[in-house]
Amino acid sequence: MSIMVIGGAGYIGAHVVRLLTERGEDVVVVDDLSTGVEDRVGGATLVELDVAGTDAQERLELVMRQRGVDSVIHFAAKKQVGESVERPTWYYRQNVGGLVNLLSAMENTGVVRMIFSSSAAVYGMPDVELVTEETDPRPINPYGQTKLIGEWLMADCGQSWGLRWSALRYFNVAGAGWPELGDPAVLNLVPMVLDRLARGERPRIFGDDYETPDGTCIRDYIHVLDLAHAHLAALDQLDGEASGRIFNVGTGTGASVREVIDEIGRASGLDVAADVEPRRPGDPPRLVASPERIADELAWKAEHGLPEIVASAWAAWQAGPRPVRVG
Ligand SMILES: NC(=O)c1ccc[n+]([C@@H]2O[C@H](COP(=O)([O-])OP(=O)(O)OC[C@H]3O[C@@H](n4cnc5c(N)ncnc54)[C@H](O)[C@@H]3O)[C@@H](O)[C@H]2O)c1
Repeated sequence: MSIMVIGGAGYIGAHVVRLLTERGEDVVVVDDLSTGVEDRVGGATLVELDVAGTDAQERLELVMRQRGVDSVIHFAAKKQVGESVERPTWYYRQNVGGLVNLLSAMENTGVVRMIFSSSAAVYGMPDVELVTEETDPRPINPYGQTKLIGEWLMADCGQSWGLRWSALRYFNVAGAGWPELGDPAVLNLVPMVLDRLARGERPRIFGDDYETPDGTCIRDYIHVLDLAHAHLAALDQLDGEASGRIFNVGTGTGASVREVIDEIGRASGLDVAADVEPRRPGDPPRLVASPERIADELAWKAEHGLPEIVASAWAAWQAGPRPVRVG
């Protein structure tokens, strides 16, 4: 039997593909390479296919039958909040439409095991110290809405035809498990800072007047390799009794924007003095996960802290196409 990893040529998916391959699983990657890169899938088979395309369901069914797929890990989605506000219909078509195609193909072929990439974006602006899975999900943008709808869709399929699923709500993913698998997108804090440094520019902080100890926003940074391991734990748990579970994937510890930038200074030996710019709309002051449920039910916990996250991101960036000139 094989595992279909949709979006396996992307940043997080490629880490999971590598871990699965290392433990001897037969992996088939489905990816349209819109943000993914072929080289990242290693020895796994790659099927180039847009899951939101008109012929996607039929083509997915074919691959599922041919390859004897029994589980799916679904990473493929568009993930830029600002873009989702500008192009909501396209986001819904990609993230929700793609999932509908996938679930239809699974139902028709009898594939009933699935892990889904959800996001802390489903919580919106929660005013709590630690976000638990019971915290009311109130997404504030189309991106977050598509993730919440994805969870609802899977729950309905669980009721209707016995889909066994888990959704992982990722917090702030960073770092690299292998230098060649660093985050290629400049969308999150760590790559954004490294990108500025590579251009010879000062890092930027959006708002230093939040009600936090140093005035900058606090987030829960999770090493991508720890996150990848959480997928394997969730997949293995689908064999047990529980299904339809939602898990925060975070550490329970927050770091501020300034602390992350300082850590980049330590890892790189560079001057990281930052410019402070106005706040961005929609940034909650604090977003930190309670990782209790995933620890209890999947026996998973993060093994890497901020220094390792940042050091691995730095090493990956320096191994990439636009290293920061040092010295
Ligand atoms: N990176 C983060 O910080 C973060 C945080 C929370 C949730 N997530 C979620 O995790 C998942 C993976 O994120 P990532 O950071 O690895 O992003 P990524 O862009 O690197 O990976 C997404 C992969 O899916 C593929 N893809 C996108 N649309 C597709 C389509 N219609 N058909 C087939 N393939 C398609 C892309 O080519 C890419 O390989 C996404 O669902 C994202 O919403 C990411």
